[in-house]
Amino acid sequence: MAVPFIDLKTPLLPLQEAVLADWASCLANTSFVGGPYVRKFETDFIRHTGISHFVSCANGTDALTLSLVALGLGPGHRIALPDVTFWATYEAIRHVGATAVLVDINADDLQLDFAALQQAHTDEPLHAVLLPHLYGWCSSELSAIRTWCENEQIMLIEDAAQAFGISFNNTPVLQGAEVATISFYPAKVIGGCMDGGGICTRNQELADKLRRLANHGRTAHYAYSETGFNSRMGDLQASFLSHLLNISESLLQSRVQGLQWYAELHASLADSRVRLHIPPGNCMGNGYLAVFTVQDVDIEELAAQMREHGIGVARTYPMTISAQPPVLQDMQAGTAVAPYMPQAAAFCNSVINLPLFAGITRDQVIESWQAFTAALKQAGTTP
Ligand SMILES: Cc1ncc(COP(=O)(O)O)c(C=O)c1O
Repeated sequence: MAVPFIDLKTPLLPLQEAVLADWASCLANTSFVGGPYVRKFETDFIRHTGISHFVSCANGTDALTLSLVALGLGPGHRIALPDVTFWATYEAIRHVGATAVLVDINADDLQLDFAALQQAHTDEPLHAVLLPHLYGWCSSELSAIRTWCENEQIMLIEDAAQAFGISFNNTPVLQGAEVATISFYPAKVIGGCMDGGGICTRNQELADKLRRLANHGRTAHYAYSETGFNSRMGDLQASFLSHLLNISESLLQSRVQGLQWYAELHASLADSRVRLHIPPGNCMGNGYLAVFTVQDVDIEELAAQMREHGIGVARTYPMTISAQPPVLQDMQAGTAVAPYMPQAAAFCNSVINLPLFAGITRDQVIESWQAFTAALKQAGTTP
């Protein structure tokens, strides 16, 4: 049996009729951009997540850029981020002209390492931290990082693109953040039918500014208070997302159950090379990814063998940010700083993700696991 890395279709089937009815109404009323479905989705999202303010925008990358601009960050500012994250985290910092300060990851929770962050600030003061919550959980030291940033007067922007539904110390991460961004890219936990994103904040003034910035800096139809962006959500997407929110509990449960099945299978594996990474004890995860690291094996060959057997696998992420060619150029220009970061490279060289999605069955997990253990026996050692 082939198992896709992600199956977007199955969990959406029960929504089709209701979504199509809303889309017919969008067409009939020409509700296309920033119309009533967008306002409804924003209200639904606030009610569902318990956050104070929510501003929708065109995608999760824009959500990051808009946040940095709204907070006045730009040239001359040093913004820290981990050396392993999705490229957009880096892009946003460079797009506003700030200096990206890359920081090593923690080998246990795989998130930005707090001690390395403090060291970066000691080396030269930071103005902000862009903190992604990756793979379906967050740093075990999230509280300490938040408090430290506040005490040091460092702005903290949490990149929660992958973090819908995660709780830390029993509080939803989105609720606990001063500013957090989210992505509704189709493969995300709440994945839309096209690109989409948004910013959550506790600060009314910041929310107002973000709303203006996402709409050209408009104060009236042809009047502007800022040089903004065109980053608005469309009504087809917003109506689709409202329906997804209604079933989000079952989507989350199904992902978490899938990860639990992998954990049970992994517990019976007698192979010390393989580690399954799970959320830290103080964090309730959302089952976004099944993250395994495997030592002493040619990880690309392992992935290729599994794909040959019809099992969709990914490697999130196969390369550090500091090894990407644009960063090497930025480092020469002094707009990126990247000290020696052993944990980041070690993780990228050993990570593999097995299929995990809402609606995955136990049989699909077992099939993937069997292909994984078979490939482990055959794959060569680290080249
Ligand atoms: C950690 C992280 N940040 C930012 C983004 C960017 O989101 P989008 O693809 O919606 O622009 C993503 C999504 O891919 C992500 O995973």
